Amino acid sequence: MKVDATRSGQISVSRSALIHNINVLRHKLRERSESAIELIPVIKANGYGAGIESICEVLKNDFNTEHATVAVATLGEAKQVSNLLPEVSVLILACADFVTQGLEQGFDLHKTGTCETWSDRWIVLLSSQAELGVLDELHQQSGRSISFHLALDTGMSREGASPNLVQGLLNEALKRDWLQFEGVMTQLAASDENQARLPVEKQLRRFLLGLKNVRQVTSKPLKAHVSNSAHLLRKEHSSRWIEEVQKMNCRVAVRPGLSLLGACVSDGQARLGYDLGLKDVVTWTAPLVGLKEIQRGDSVSYGASWTAKRDSWIGIVRVGYADGYARQASNKGVFALDGVRVPIVGRVCMDITCVDLTDYMAKKGLPALGDAVVVLAGDLVLGPRLDELAQFTRRIPYEVLTSISPLIQRHLKD
Ligand SMILES: Cc1ncc(COP(=O)(O)O)c(C=O)c1O
Repeated sequence: MKVDATRSGQISVSRSALIHNINVLRHKLRERSESAIELIPVIKANGYGAGIESICEVLKNDFNTEHATVAVATLGEAKQVSNLLPEVSVLILACADFVTQGLEQGFDLHKTGTCETWSDRWIVLLSSQAELGVLDELHQQSGRSISFHLALDTGMSREGASPNLVQGLLNEALKRDWLQFEGVMTQLAASDENQARLPVEKQLRRFLLGLKNVRQVTSKPLKAHVSNSAHLLRKEHSSRWIEEVQKMNCRVAVRPGLSLLGACVSDGQARLGYDLGLKDVVTWTAPLVGLKEIQRGDSVSYGASWTAKRDSWIGIVRVGYADGYARQASNKGVFALDGVRVPIVGRVCMDITCVDLTDYMAKKGLPALGDAVVVLAGDLVLGPRLDELAQFTRRIPYEVLTSISPLIQRHLKD
């Protein structure tokens, strides 16, 4: 495969792998409960680096309906998603944004374009009186009604109202007939840690307590969502807990992000996603832009950190840390070329990384300049998988994907 050597690389998103992963997750959810559990794809941070446009293009078939919801983190992302999927509801997983923008703009939300572009399909999180004040401002300036989900802090100690204190906040909120209360959520702090059962259970108990307190204030049907990828894929995601939530007149939803793209891995759970059959969606390739024959004893790249033990062929690949490829892969990582894994030698530079092609050449002969070198294998059989790339760059998969430079072209394949 050839790529344009004037470009620093390409990201391709596999439509079929993404659809496959959504189906695997849906299957998992059907095992958990007889009643339908809604899947809310989290596609913040440019679709976890994969490219929000490509992801939305795939979601178009299934999620562009008024009954579906997609989650993002910022107003800008909400606008993007609404342009791409006009029918879908967009859950903005932050209220802090409004606070920040409001303060910066002296609460003139017109200046940010927020009032003019506000969509009835957007849902914000509410977790404090201060945020209620910002929503008041937004309503006064825009005249719009606003939907919200109540965010509970059950153990993350970041955003969210205390489950014990929600009644006051809710009573205040429900005095406003322009505020639509539609759901309750929390965020798990340690669902992906191996030792996480106890902290997770504690958070689930606190969530139920919060819901009971909500039910002292209103009996209206609500959506309730807690699980991220790791939690929904783990065995201990309990059907009993789901039933308890459902008994409180709530429809359960889940918010997976990383597992849509394949691996659900972290320090604690290296293979969970792959073991369940999830496929990596993102492939990253970069062009081979040079070939060099060196002598035994010659060193390669900055710092002369790798010295050839034999006469060697060095391939020069146009990818580096400016593209988001971590320097920690120096002398450790691998790429793949034409189905053969080739080791990185010497330090990863700003826009160049060198590989030892000596063994490759013995098998396959001379490669051509412009050949696509696989940096991240995605759905290709050989080449570094996401968990592997994370390991040798000492990053978590979230970082690997979201660090890929936005300047690299993204496209959808198959
Ligand atoms: C509030 C919230 N829910 C869900 C997710 C999705 O998490 P994951 O990618 O682990 O599935 C995120 C991601 O950061 C998040 O911030």
